[in-house]
Amino acid sequence: MQMTNNRKGIVLAGGSGSRLYPLTLAVTKQLMPVYDKPMIYYPISVLMLSNIQDIAIITTKNYLSNFKNLLGSGSQFGVNFEYFVQEKPAGLAEAFLITEKFINKEPVCLILGDNIFYGQGLKDKILPANDRKEGATIFGYQVENPSRFGVVEFDNNGKAISLEEKPDIPKSNFAITGLYYYDNEVIEIAKSIKPSARGELEITDVNNEYLNRNKLKVEDFGRGFAWLDMGTHDSLLEASQFIKTIEQQQGLKVGCLEEIGYRNGWITLNNLVQSGESLKHTSYGKYIIKITSSL
Ligand code: G1P
Repeated sequence: MQMTNNRKGIVLAGGSGSRLYPLTLAVTKQLMPVYDKPMIYYPISVLMLSNIQDIAIITTKNYLSNFKNLLGSGSQFGVNFEYFVQEKPAGLAEAFLITEKFINKEPVCLILGDNIFYGQGLKDKILPANDRKEGATIFGYQVENPSRFGVVEFDNNGKAISLEEKPDIPKSNFAITGLYYYDNEVIEIAKSIKPSARGELEITDVNNEYLNRNKLKVEDFGRGFAWLDMGTHDSLLEASQFIKTIEQQQGLKVGCLEEIGYRNGWITLNNLVQSGESLKHTSYGKYIIKITSSL
């Protein structure tokens, strides 16, 4: 079924990845393998599952050609990629300034290039966020170490009442994940905020502005769900092990972009077969060939 959606997508794949040195001295973090595919495939898959076809990839100048070599125009997945450069790590909210013309008058979804979201309820959470025309929807997830993240505090009715970026004394255990749905006002809001003490345009300041305007919805992903951020060597390895376990147990791949493109009605069965053939010596290609025979 062909689905239309005017919301634009952004994958932010900038940053220096310094916490992963020496791995990321010559290769950018979002191109690191997570089991059988590059990390950036997973956030792209979330945008595609949200029915978003126009996707901006923001990267640093050094790695622009690497991303273009990997992802191309996007037609092999039935999407359109446009590439943008973030000159220096000036904060997540700068993404909306860099892509202002690309977003144009539409709503937008930002996802961080190093976040993996996996779980049965994913579409049930993201599709309503996608359909919401006004305001912002962001997602909380309970974590052991909230100080590393943006943190949301809820009142007794489950309504968000405060947001803080990397607080020393967090008011809850709920981190804000790297997936954000906004209406078009986000551009004006991103222009109005000032850099934080660490010199960055903070996404938490954008979210706080939506909160002040009473236009912020914070959804909880719930405990039966996996949100993995891959900021350390251990979490990078654990993410690979997690994906391997799920894929081998079920015989289904997580984040196979050709499969999602086909199931969304964006590429033909013939396109899918061709992609499978071109990668037939890999487990990824064999998987595509296997699913085409059951379609
Ligand atoms: C960013 C955001 C933070 C959010 C996190 C999710 O942090 O600033 O609010 O919780 O992403 O991955 P960073 O990874 O840039 O330190």
